[in-house]
Amino acid sequence: MTALRPVDLLLVFAMAGVMAGAAAAGRGLRPAPRFADADDPALTARGAVVYAQNCASCHGAHLEGARHWQAVGPDGRAAPPPQNETGHTWMHSDDELFGFVKYSMIDLAAPGYVSPMPAFRGRLTDDDILATIAFIKSRWPVGVRAYQALLNPDYQGMPAAAAADGWSLPADCGYEPNRAVRKPDGSS
Ligand code: HEC
Repeated sequence: MTALRPVDLLLVFAMAGVMAGAAAAGRGLRPAPRFADADDPALTARGAVVYAQNCASCHGAHLEGARHWQAVGPDGRAAPPPQNETGHTWMHSDDELFGFVKYSMIDLAAPGYVSPMPAFRGRLTDDDILATIAFIKSRWPVGVRAYQALLNPDYQGMPAAAAADGWSLPADCGYEPNRAVRKPDGSS
């Protein structure tokens, strides 16, 4: 390999500078990822109240969700998924969950899709949304919390108990978008 000439080195430094500048500009534009601390008892207590008042009517008083939630109902609309470990909330980072609650499912939805999940922007403060997510997370078993923490930057929210033996990763939630409810004769 030929040695780098000083002029090449200058080019390398210049490019590194441009890239660092672009990264800094990007950081400035994009808000820091949201984090909901499930180990903060005051936050989860507040989240429990917000959940009971705003979410339980659809997602269940015990976070159990709707029956047969994995299938699209007869009206063609999605049913409320559980918020406990049997659903698929744990498949998303805190930042994604914050976005779902604040803006509904606009990031995931196809054009024209209207989700039954309300957007809570203007109805709940950002802090109340984070408190609710913290409460939901605090109800998950340690394996589910550990899995979900892996999706956060720097594994934020990794439970201390994840260092212990005796927990398992979550089972798959079995969700298939747009799977129709089957009639007993097998037709849809
Ligand atoms: C009117 C019923 C209704 C209310 C009230 C409601 N949701 Fe939902 N939610 C849904 C439905 C239905 C979906 C599935 C949306 C879809 O697939 O289009 C959903 C989806 C979600 C999701 C994304 C799916 C998942 O589990 O990862 C989260 C998170 C969520 N809701 C949290 C909340 C929280 C927190 C509240 C209260 C602040 C709330 N929801 C209030 C009906 C509701």
